[in-house]
Amino acid sequence: MSNVSVTRPLPEAGLADLRAAHTVEIYDPAVHGDADEDRLIALARGAEALIPTVADPITARVLAASSHLRIVAQFGVGTDNIDLEAARAHDIVVTNTPDVLTDATADFAFALLLAAARHLCPADVFVRDGAFQRWETTLLLGMELRGKVLGIVGLGRIGRAMARRALGFGMRLVYHNRRPINFTIERRLSAQYVSFEELLAQSDVVSLHCALNDESYHLLDDNAFGRMKPSALLVNTARGPIVNEEALVRALQQGQLAGAGLDVFEREPEVHPGLLAHPRVVLAPHLGSATVEARTAMARMASEAVLAALDDAETIPHRVV
Ligand code: DGY
Repeated sequence: MSNVSVTRPLPEAGLADLRAAHTVEIYDPAVHGDADEDRLIALARGAEALIPTVADPITARVLAASSHLRIVAQFGVGTDNIDLEAARAHDIVVTNTPDVLTDATADFAFALLLAAARHLCPADVFVRDGAFQRWETTLLLGMELRGKVLGIVGLGRIGRAMARRALGFGMRLVYHNRRPINFTIERRLSAQYVSFEELLAQSDVVSLHCALNDESYHLLDDNAFGRMKPSALLVNTARGPIVNEEALVRALQQGQLAGAGLDVFEREPEVHPGLLAHPRVVLAPHLGSATVEARTAMARMASEAVLAALDDAETIPHRVV
């Protein structure tokens, strides 16, 4: 039996096999405080496997201090919270949980798109406040999706799932990636590859689905917002720091952008006060993969990777490092 540390409670149904084979310690930040570097070091010390989440900084310091650690099995698809170079240097395997959260995240991105386009949050508040006195012809008029252009930044798994949803609503698709995707998939999605500048200029909705890295950090800045249609909406279910939040607030306040649906923030869990105050911004607390199905499958996948690594299996599923 080995020691496995988990940085927060996960769906138990996904942990059953792991618990049967190893000693599993679950940290609860709601009880003991957020898992900062020092707490993560204490948690990982003595563990052979660590299951962290997007919210846990698995830095070079954490990895260097965890001398028994053999695997970091991320509960999530993005691994930008983990110092992959340091993991490589310490010979620690890193895995993630792709695919099982694709539909959940695309559903949520589309929900944010619809909510922002049709003023769903102000409408809800309007009714709760008792302001619904009569049916009105011009109340909270929104944007219809049919025929509008959706610009997808990052046409990977989640971007493609978003594209399929948008096609069902009659939207036209443009996308930008580091390079164009396979022509057959492009044709199946009727998606046109354009430059990033062209995507900003053409899109009625820009939806972010790329990974956070040096290239995508603050991709959406003053310059980018200046290129967008003033009637356009921004949807972000990818990572907060892809958007310069100061610039986003400026663009919204100056009418350079009509609204936004945001599930992720630059300094989570902090949210810029300018976003909190803006009536055309829909906000969510990083819920993209938050379905029972996806989160249970993610726990199961992370467990499988840990079981394989601690068993010295020849192949460890969904290995990133
Ligand atoms: C991920 O998987 O990267 C999400 O942001 C958390 O589910």
